[in-house]
This record gives sequence, C-alpha cells and structure tokens, in this order.
Amino acid sequence: MSFDLSVIPNKNIVLAVTGGIAAYKSAILVRRLKDAGFNVRVVMTHGAQAFITPLTFQALSGNPVHTELLNPEAEAGMGHIELARWADLLLVAPASCDTLAKFAAGLADDLLSTLYLATKSPVWVAPAMNQQMWAAKATQRNLNTLVEDGVHVIMPDAGSQACGDVGLGRMPEPEDLARQVTQYFHRAQRAIAEKFGMLAGKHVVITAGPTREAMDPVRYISNHSTGKMGFALAAACYAAGAKVTLIAGPVSLDTPNGVRRINVTSAVKMLEISMQMLNEGCDIFIATAAVADYRVAEVAEHKIKKTGDELNISLIKNPDIVATIAQQQKRPFMVGFAAETRNVEQYAAGKLVAKKLDMIACNDVSRADIGFASDENAMIVFFAEQYHMQKRDLEKASKQEIAQQLVEAIHDALHHEIEPV
Ligand code: C5P
Repeated sequence: MSFDLSVIPNKNIVLAVTGGIAAYKSAILVRRLKDAGFNVRVVMTHGAQAFITPLTFQALSGNPVHTELLNPEAEAGMGHIELARWADLLLVAPASCDTLAKFAAGLADDLLSTLYLATKSPVWVAPAMNQQMWAAKATQRNLNTLVEDGVHVIMPDAGSQACGDVGLGRMPEPEDLARQVTQYFHRAQRAIAEKFGMLAGKHVVITAGPTREAMDPVRYISNHSTGKMGFALAAACYAAGAKVTLIAGPVSLDTPNGVRRINVTSAVKMLEISMQMLNEGCDIFIATAAVADYRVAEVAEHKIKKTGDELNISLIKNPDIVATIAQQQKRPFMVGFAAETRNVEQYAAGKLVAKKLDMIACNDVSRADIGFASDENAMIVFFAEQYHMQKRDLEKASKQEIAQQLVEAIHDALHHEIEPV
C-alpha cells in the first residue's frame, strides 16, 4: 500500500494574518501552501490590512478574504462558524502580541478571536514582533497560557528586525512554515495509515461461530461459541483496509459493515467454502470458529424416535479446517485460535506447530471473566519460529480492542523479515 506523500489533498487551512510587517511574508506562504496541495482561506485582522491588502490574498488563495465578524454579506457566503468547521488547521502567521493576548484572554470581539474559540481544529501561531515585545512578561505569560490550552507555537527566528533591533521575533520564512505544516499532515496521514491501512489490499477469510452437526432433521450437536471474536476481527480487518469474507456458523450477530458473509452450518460445509476462498485468492486465513470435532456418522433421514433407555450415536472426526488449508501449496498467512482450560501456553504452542500455523492466539476459557460469551477477552499470541518474534500478551480488553491488536500482530508478522530456515 502506498500513499502519495508529495501533496496533501483536500486539507483546509485557514491562514489568519494579523498586524505586523511580517504580513508580507504571508502572501508567499499562501503560495507555498497552495503548491503543497492545501485549500487556503485567509482571514485578516484590521491591523493586517494596514500592511497588505485583502485583494492580494484573494488573488493568491483563489478565495474571498474574510475580514469582518458582523458583515451580513460575508456571513451569507461562508459564515464564521462554517469557516471554523471548514478548517483542518488554523494557522495564525504572523501572530501579533495583541492577537496572542486576545486568544489567551478568550476575547471574541473580532472575526479571528471568535474563530479561535469556535474551531475544533488544531491552532498554530507564529508570533512575529519586536524583540522587546516578544520578551515582555505579558507576552510570555500569554504564550504559556496558549501552550497550556493546546496551541502549537512556532518559535520566532532571531536576527535583524524591520525596526532596526536585533533579536528574537522574526517570523520564520514561508518555505519553512509550509514545510512544517506539510510535515504535520504527513505525520497525521501516516498515523492513520498505520492504524487503519495495515491490511490494505489483502483478502482476509475468517471462520467464526460454532458449527452445527445434524443428528436428524430436528436435532444437532453444537457448542456455546457466539462468534463475537470472529465478528470483531472481521470488523477490525475491514477497518484496516482489507477485503473480508466471513464464513459464519449459526450465530445471532449482525454482519459488520463492509464484510462479505457466507453462512454455513456444518464443519464439512465450512471447509468446502474455505477451500473455495483459497481458489478465489486469500492472503490471510483466520480460524476463530469453534468447529465441532466430531459429526454424526450417519445422519438419520427421519426424526429419531425414543425407543429404548439408551441411544448410541456413532461420531466420526470432522476435518480440521485450519490444518487442511495450511497444508495447501499456495497457503495464506495462517492464524489459529486456541481456547484452553489448563496448560494454555503449552497446548497453544503445540497447536501452532502441529497445524503448521504462522500465528496462534490463545486464551484461558476457565476464567469466568473472558472468553466464549463474554464481551472481553485476554490472549497470548505466539508466532511460528521462523518469524523470530516474541510472544505477545494482550491484556484483558474488549473483543474489539483485542481484535485491533491481533490485526497489528498479523501486520507485524507479515512485515517481519523472515530469515531462511
Ligand atoms: O479445536 P482446536 O483447539 O484444535 O482449535 C484450534 C484452531 O483450529 C482454531 O483456530 C480452530 O478454529 C481451528 N479448527 C479448525 N477445524 C477444526 C478444529 C479446529 O479449523 N476441525
């Protein structure tokens, strides 16, 4: 999966320009932000308009410039609340002493200060002022307040100033500011990709729930599996960008959004559909199903009558679905589950090897607070030896959270350098 990190599409920046000689640099900043692919709308305080005209910013941003809070005409276009919601970032550059003070005090007597209070977006300020004003106790106090309030302060550069002084207070160059903004969105985008795009492009097949083995037309052998873990995994894999097919035994759960569900009843049918999925192309196979180990040797055609005091039914072994898939030549990455009541780790590690799995997640179902019907789970994950990966303890959490961590474990194993064995 690849993201184009060269430009950031469809991100909205409200660039607020306040009164200061550095306002001229903001004109170039608009250009640089547009070059990087951002949508830019400019807000100007009255002070800023003494240095540079709204027309300049209108021409550069391609959007009308916002200057007034109580202007019926402007509010009819994009009102201040709408503008506050539109912003993915409110960037105040240059930020004057007066603006910092207004923000720190929570005033709302002009468009920008109102916007600051009304937006949920991150707020960045790039203070630019005379070095003495920067060093003033009140300015530093206000900056501390803003940092405490979650505002990101871009530190001014040192150097010669328009007023003839030398010191801290120069606004960083537009290229530098644009780069910082772009990097911020790249980081955010990467974090989303890491969280939600880990399985992008993969086809994940998940077996879930119990199987039901018929005895006669009205009776069956089954177990208590609810399918919750498998369904939570299906949702997590879909959220991670995968195409997901859920082969579900009889459970009363809604199909997760975006997931293809194929209902089956018996273990034999579950295996048949699993093999079909392999032919369709499957990258990751996750076996959460509590498959009945045995099925009735001969299913009675008609309802079995209660004739004697005893009834003997002969059972034969069901196929092991996950082990069968793991034996195929073009096998997917195989994930198994093990529910144990004792020697949990030992049995699970044994199944990992015996069934030729890549990863196994096991839990202790003797614990009353987790497992089968519970909404929570706690698991230990083992990886096949060739991955050289440490086992992972997934502490007790909702099945959704456990599912997310299992997706991360699968992703990590898939991207782990497999050394030749
Ligand atoms: O039942 P057992 O502990 O052997 O299950 C371990 C793993 O094997 C689970 O992932 C389960 O879904 C899978 N399994 C299977 N077919 C079976 C039995 C178990 O796919 N017949």
